[in-house]
Amino acid sequence: MSDALVDALRRALGERGVLTSPEDRARFETGWRYGKGTARCIARPASTDEVATVLRLCDTHGARVVAQGANTGLVAASTPDAGGAMVVLSLERLNRTIDLDAHGRTVLVDGGVLLSQLNGALAPHGFWFPVDLGADPQIGGMVATNTGGTRLLKYGDVRHNLLGVEVVLGDGRVLTLLNTLRKNNTGLDAKHLFVGTTGVFGVVTRAVLAVAPLPKQRATALVGCTGGSAVLELLRTLEQGLGDVLSAFEVMSRNAIEPVFAHQPNLRRPWPELPAYSVLVEAATTLDGEDLDLAALLEKFLGAHLERAGDQVSDVLMARGDEFWQIRHHISESLRSEGKMLAFDVSVPRSRLPAFTDAVALLLQAEHPQVRLCDYGHWGDGGTHLNLVWREAQVADSAALVRTLQSRIYDLAVRDFAGSYSAEHGIGPHNQAFYDRYTDANVKALCRVLGGFCDPAGRLGTVRLGGERS
Ligand code: LAC
Ligand code: ZN
Repeated sequence: MSDALVDALRRALGERGVLTSPEDRARFETGWRYGKGTARCIARPASTDEVATVLRLCDTHGARVVAQGANTGLVAASTPDAGGAMVVLSLERLNRTIDLDAHGRTVLVDGGVLLSQLNGALAPHGFWFPVDLGADPQIGGMVATNTGGTRLLKYGDVRHNLLGVEVVLGDGRVLTLLNTLRKNNTGLDAKHLFVGTTGVFGVVTRAVLAVAPLPKQRATALVGCTGGSAVLELLRTLEQGLGDVLSAFEVMSRNAIEPVFAHQPNLRRPWPELPAYSVLVEAATTLDGEDLDLAALLEKFLGAHLERAGDQVSDVLMARGDEFWQIRHHISESLRSEGKMLAFDVSVPRSRLPAFTDAVALLLQAEHPQVRLCDYGHWGDGGTHLNLVWREAQVADSAALVRTLQSRIYDLAVRDFAGSYSAEHGIGPHNQAFYDRYTDANVKALCRVLGGFCDPAGRLGTVRLGGERS
């Protein structure tokens, strides 16, 4: 069947630039964790001009478009809907430019460059982009999501490290905001419209990033804590005593890591009896080993804390390789192998994390005893992933249980604990209903105004920041 839009895209992008067969489309149609749809075609532009052409053609033909990076997002925001009419705009061929200014400590990078590719290019020059996570996303997708990750505690999120962007708006206009200045106080910093707004105001084609000096050494330890308040006390002590070098503070509950050892036989259980929380503490420094023995410093510091903390801290283990990070990064997939998993990416004020976690545990015990709470996360940032796991056979209607649990737990986080229902994974169809529920009406109205300028016909994305599609 002939399709005038697909034909026009082929003429503009060439044969390699457009994919239509179900086999070729498949990897673009299913998200990493949530999201499954059907695309009309996959458009793969290789330059900003080609992205602009794709968006102009889609606009002319009245087609909706979802931009897609590496498709590693966790809220279904990069996959098309089920209708079969949306075009997936993949940035994977827009991945050539990595232009480092070593003295400026900035890099200009194409939106489709993978994080691993960027860091591979920066490393020989002694730099890295320090927004660090288990997956390997593209830079444009990281901007659209405002990715956080495991070292936010030290380096901040993408917003914090972003100097400029180039975006293509919904009808193909190109907005060039490739600022390279660290100080530039000249009115509205419009790049922020495109950070964390999930691609609905424009498609990020290039970015200017501030990069960080690559640490010369890292030291990692695992600290066993008997409860949430012991974890907070450890965090406070570390920040006050080792704050300059503290680079990660990842908290893993017993329920979150127990399955890792069942599903990853090559990973060793650190203790025969797992404590309530195992805390991965990482220190990093640009000083080299001759000047500072970082592992010895961390060991001494944690040893002293172990002495002082009494029965709050059960043990401290220094890492030999990256085994503790391996445990951390295998949690999510190991939990998925345990049955049905429902993931939460929430945050609350840091000091309230233990009370919040207890409140969730009590709620589950009282109302859904078949659901296991497997919490882990970035406590240094107030973030926790409350992954809930159950056996399908024990639940009559899993879809209904998902709806009930989302509603109850997001309400608890947002309304009772002044928290966020999406701490770092962003907004997508997976949590659109909660965006609608918790977002101030004036913010939605503002988004409608901004959307009217950036994407006048509402072509971009599957998420509606302005509320209902009109
Ligand atoms: C993590 C992802 C799920 O922290 O955000 O593992
Ligand atoms: Zn996370």
